[in-house]
Amino acid sequence: MKPLRHILTLGDLDVEELKTILKIAEELKADFKRGIRPKRLDGKVLGLIFEKMSLRTRVSFEAGMAHLGGGSMLLEERHIGLGSRESIPDVSRVLSSMVDCISFRAKKHETVCEFAKYSSVPVINALTDKAHPCQALADMMTIKEEFGTFEDVKIAWIGDSNNVAASLVEASAMLGCQIAVSSPKGHEFSDEEIRALTAQRQPGFKLARIEDPSEAVRGARVVYTDVWVSMGQEAEEKERLEKFRPYQVNAELMGLARTEAIFMHCLPARRGLEVTDEVIDSPKSRVVEEAANRMHAQKGLLVWLLEN
Ligand code: CP
Ligand code: NVA
Repeated sequence: MKPLRHILTLGDLDVEELKTILKIAEELKADFKRGIRPKRLDGKVLGLIFEKMSLRTRVSFEAGMAHLGGGSMLLEERHIGLGSRESIPDVSRVLSSMVDCISFRAKKHETVCEFAKYSSVPVINALTDKAHPCQALADMMTIKEEFGTFEDVKIAWIGDSNNVAASLVEASAMLGCQIAVSSPKGHEFSDEEIRALTAQRQPGFKLARIEDPSEAVRGARVVYTDVWVSMGQEAEEKERLEKFRPYQVNAELMGLARTEAIFMHCLPARRGLEVTDEVIDSPKSRVVEEAANRMHAQKGLLVWLLEN
């Protein structure tokens, strides 16, 4: 029996484990490209709880499990009534008695943490308000494919210091990338958040918080942005759209990064707000490859967690 592990943030892994998962993902992707789908999780079942909308996360987990010879099932919040029809501990104990792994997208990070406490199988954070570790796995895989290394790679994060940014900072620290985070006042990471996210920092890691986006992208090989209004922040939309306007990734801003710089976005994108069509549809954009890597990266994670 494998020891029980929950992946609620990347910090639940050590650096070697993170590298191993990326390596398995790379191998599985190479197999997949050659038309080989090893049934490494034959008969295993993944339960997916989603309290928020999703395209990439749901499809990548479900398709990934099918490729690996396992099965999956979607449990929408409105069907199971988590915390309303039934308590979180009861749902967790019962569900984990029937499936081998649970991937959970929750409105609140604390809900996933509480759920994990009562689960007898691994729980994977499929996005919360605080973190999106599966996204960061795919992002680092995409960066490695592009540049062949994490050394001397500078990422410029432009926009909100949100869940996706938090996991990207954590992954950058663990893999020794440089990252400049450029957010408007009031939307930056606190010192305490940075300390927690960079606890496992490796040589080569550097972090800068730079308010001015044109300064942040200088020397960057990756320019990354995300929506200005995340799921659950709809009430702040008007104020946020105003505040974040100077943080749009457009051709002018991309032009200040290194010549070989690529554009990344976790998607879904609000075109014309955080990124222009000109950038997201340009040859520099890697958004489709990045989304496709969600499946390969999560297959790596699932095999690492569940293979006998
Ligand atoms: N990037 C991402 O998590 O996409 P979905 O919200 O569509 O799953
Ligand atoms: N920051 C976004 C990411 C969506 C994948 C959100 O939480 O809505």
